[in-house]
Amino acid sequence: MRLTVIGTGYVGAVHAACMAETGHEVLGVDVDEERIAALAAGRPPFHEPGLSAMLQRTVATGRLRFTTSMAEAARFAGTHFVCVGTPQRPESGAADLRHVEAAVDALAPGLRSAGHDGALVVGKSTVPVGTADRLAARLCDSGADVAWNPEFLREGSAVQDTLRPERIVAGVRSAQAEARLRAVYAPLVAAGAPFIATDTVTAELVKVASNSFLATKISFINAMAEICDVTGADVLTLAAAMGADSRIGPNFLTPGLGFGGSCLPKDIRAFAARAEEIGRGESVAFLRQVDEINTRQRRRTIALAERFVGGSFAGRSVAVLGAAFKPGSDDVRDSPALAVAETVRRRGARVRVHDPEAVDNARAAFPDLQYALDVTKACEQADVVLHLTEWPQYQELDPAALAAVVRTPVMVDARNTLDARAWHSAGWRLSAPGRPRLG
Ligand code: UDX
Ligand code: UDX
Repeated sequence: MRLTVIGTGYVGAVHAACMAETGHEVLGVDVDEERIAALAAGRPPFHEPGLSAMLQRTVATGRLRFTTSMAEAARFAGTHFVCVGTPQRPESGAADLRHVEAAVDALAPGLRSAGHDGALVVGKSTVPVGTADRLAARLCDSGADVAWNPEFLREGSAVQDTLRPERIVAGVRSAQAEARLRAVYAPLVAAGAPFIATDTVTAELVKVASNSFLATKISFINAMAEICDVTGADVLTLAAAMGADSRIGPNFLTPGLGFGGSCLPKDIRAFAARAEEIGRGESVAFLRQVDEINTRQRRRTIALAERFVGGSFAGRSVAVLGAAFKPGSDDVRDSPALAVAETVRRRGARVRVHDPEAVDNARAAFPDLQYALDVTKACEQADVVLHLTEWPQYQELDPAALAAVVRTPVMVDARNTLDARAWHSAGWRLSAPGRPRLG
């Protein structure tokens, strides 16, 4: 089949490459000319395991091409996936739909004349419930139908999540649209992916409800870590014992600095704002608490570090391990690690940040922080080390070797993944949220 993918960011670039990999002819479209030129040369604009090789492979076959022309997109195919971003409005937290509307408005004029047995615009972006219906009204003159097909990919495993999804959710307004989406995903369904056909409102909700649930699980365990801190209980044992109950499950129960990234924080705020608009604010009022518990972990980490350096950051040296919002990614959007690092810098510390992948993006977003290319350099003469993104290589660090380069061997393990006993034995004072003090 022929498809277009409009918006070639994290979601769109991965979707375009994976659809070409499964045999479709795909045209990727973006307003960003530089991005389109790089993708056409097989270079993804971000770090994502397996994506670069897949882009090169599919571009070489001719099944994947890129353009900045919406008119070309309308002519090329009858099925158009919309993957542009839906950022947060600063004042209300609601989703800003201007990119989605701009993409649809730019595509619309070409659709009527294009034929293709009826155009289908398929939204993948995360949107407030009711958006598909509004876009259908907006597209009315073009004769196009609208469907919603949310993505559930995690950065770092986006290619696998797209090729082997745990579910495909197709929100449709007609049998023809369902048949079209079944044809698009036939290779994935044949490989075992469940296909859930529903209406567009339910499909839109599946995405925001899923992300809200994941965020709630994380904030729940972080709230328990706060309780553990005053009772002396051990949150890691608590999480393991809770997670052993198959009704609860072990995933998304790692206590620490909390969630960030381009989805969870903005999605829960947008959902809360949308619920208020439709008169059901109280139904998801708990999401405000989820958000508050989450951002409180950043303040708690900063307060602990400040105590460790004697009550003031002024003139202190602070090493930060991790800048990406999570390991396996170079994405720094709403990164808890960088939010902490920047606040500590503003309070007068000299902050040196290490990250295996995200330094370039971090530097662009926070130019006043200092960056180090290896952990030892970041930690030289540090008064405190903050472990803020749990890259696996930080678990392999030699605590004794690092103790020799810092000024004071004090560690805040805000991600709860370092071997506290090993660090303690090497002379470190180490504190992690919800863990009993050692020694
Ligand atoms: C996606 C989803 O679409 C968003 O709703 C979800 O919540 C997170 O994942 P993402 O892929 O992360 O967004 O967005 P981003 O990496 O910012 O890429 C968006 C792309 O769309 C950019 O390349 C941008 O240039 C492009 N764009 C934007 C257009 O092509 N046209 C526009 O009008 C606006
Ligand atoms: C998320 C959703 O998982 C995905 O389905 C959706 O499409 C986009 O948003 P992503 O943002 O890539 O994906 O990251 P995810 O792996 O879900 O992690 C989100 C955040 O939660 C990260 O900051 C991570 O560090 C944090 N997290 C995760 C915890 O703090 N504790 C946990 O136990 C798990």
